[in-house]
Amino acid sequence: MLQIAIIGYGYWGKNLVRNFYNLPDSKLALVIDQDANRLKTVQQLYPHVEVSTSIDDAFKNHNIDAVVIATPVFTHYALAKEALLSGKHVLVEKPMTASSAEAKELIDLALSRGKLIMPDHTFLYTGAVQKMKELVTNGTVGNIQYIDSTRINLGLFQPDINVLWDLAPHDLSICDYLIEQKPYSVQATGISHTNNGIENVAYLTVNYENNLIAHFNCSWTSPVKVRSMLIGGDKKMISYNDLEATEKIKVYDTGYDLKTEEEKTKIMVDYRVGDIYVPKLDGTEALSALAKDFVQSILHNQTPRSHAELGLTVVQVLEAAQKSIKQKGQEVIL
Ligand SMILES: NC(=O)c1ccc[n+]([C@@H]2O[C@H](COP(=O)([O-])OP(=O)(O)OC[C@H]3O[C@@H](n4cnc5c(N)ncnc54)[C@H](O)[C@@H]3O)[C@@H](O)[C@H]2O)c1
Repeated sequence: MLQIAIIGYGYWGKNLVRNFYNLPDSKLALVIDQDANRLKTVQQLYPHVEVSTSIDDAFKNHNIDAVVIATPVFTHYALAKEALLSGKHVLVEKPMTASSAEAKELIDLALSRGKLIMPDHTFLYTGAVQKMKELVTNGTVGNIQYIDSTRINLGLFQPDINVLWDLAPHDLSICDYLIEQKPYSVQATGISHTNNGIENVAYLTVNYENNLIAHFNCSWTSPVKVRSMLIGGDKKMISYNDLEATEKIKVYDTGYDLKTEEEKTKIMVDYRVGDIYVPKLDGTEALSALAKDFVQSILHNQTPRSHAELGLTVVQVLEAAQKSIKQKGQEVIL
């Protein structure tokens, strides 16, 4: 039985506590939050779980095998580092760290200590993303040519990170998982409508080799909530609408063929508009599958689906995007 401590019982920490509490092969032993009031709820809901306001109760406790960090982004690096130095495995919320140098240091530290460090990219465990991965891997989609994602709503303005750091990790992790290719450059623009300079609207373009492009529209200031992604393959195209209850994924037999025998200046296109297929999706709660992957990866010394190198790539893209925004959209090579 792995003994787990969770640090941070805020909006997302509550979901982690619920899922780890119900997980086999591990025991949720301790929940820590610097806010004692939040811990009262833990005591009411989970009377057998210890609570504390001191992180040392996790780090100095030899019975704790693994620590889950669900605190704000700027605290991830220091808490994860201390956990690894104390001999604990670590699950850290997305984005893994506030800089790629920090993420690399944590990966090296985990490696040298023989411990697992895993970022929480929850979307990789959803039925929708699993189905898209299957459709890409089994060749149904063909070569991916573009990904176009919109993640906008009237969102909570974050005091420490811009809208890309808040929302884009979801889309960037999905892209990395589906494409399995490192991007080579990014271009981003964004704007802040507050006096703290933190962008609340941003547009990010990620460039890959092989004529593949990905675009992300992220906003906390939209009148409507949209969570949609288009994946254009040369055989099939996918529409992923995360707000749909049952028909999140639609597979379109849509495409085109270019005629090459025509004179070079004139492009002739043959369009194909065929059937639309709506696959059935696995309805397991993504966070429960992620928690299980974390525990099983520790127990069997395996690489989890949401692995540290993927978490690092996400941070590298976000960092480059931040630089590009400050340089008015200039291309930044990764
Ligand atoms: N995977 C996902 O889909 C997902 C969704 C939402 C948030 N998140 C991530 O989860 C993390 C937390 O976000 P949130 O929205 O839950 O924030 P939150 O502000 O609601 O909760 C953070 C909690 O951490 C506590 N805390 C902060 N610093 C601490 C410290 N040093 N020691 C102990 N407790 C401390 C706070 O008191 C608070 O209760 C962020 O990294 C965010 O990006 C991930």
